[in-house]
Amino acid sequence: MKLIIINGPNLNLLGKREPEVYGSTTFEDYFEQLRKKFPDTELEYYQSNIEGELIGKIQEVGFDYDGIILNAAAYTHTSVGIGDAVKAVETPVVEVHISNTHQREDYRHVSYISPAAKGVILGFGLQSYDLAIQSFLV
Ligand code: DQA
Repeated sequence: MKLIIINGPNLNLLGKREPEVYGSTTFEDYFEQLRKKFPDTELEYYQSNIEGELIGKIQEVGFDYDGIILNAAAYTHTSVGIGDAVKAVETPVVEVHISNTHQREDYRHVSYISPAAKGVILGFGLQSYDLAIQSFLV
């Protein structure tokens, strides 16, 4: 089982970015915990602040990986291009969010990813990523 976590803009700042919303753990530290928890799963991690790079990565992995776990962050709510990339590839995409976006500002209630995603997991903090991995293992 080969999975990739793709994180969008500002998620490189996890740990110091609005810790009351996103927690105080860095993604690098959390990713190490995930690697230990799922030793039989090939797990990769990619982050970019640039929309086109995220589209490029989805295209690159989207025909031979078993799953993509995508937190497109702010681009979730704006990017037709990332939504189209999710539609274009064969690899199933699970959309994740750390926060419960439906409890937040109205502009976070829209997702260009959800219509093409296999499923959506949000609001469980960093554990949303763990649950997304598990969704591919059942
Ligand atoms: C987020 C929610 C988005 O609305 C926000 O722009 C992010 C992070 C989350 O994981 O909760 O950057 O995707």
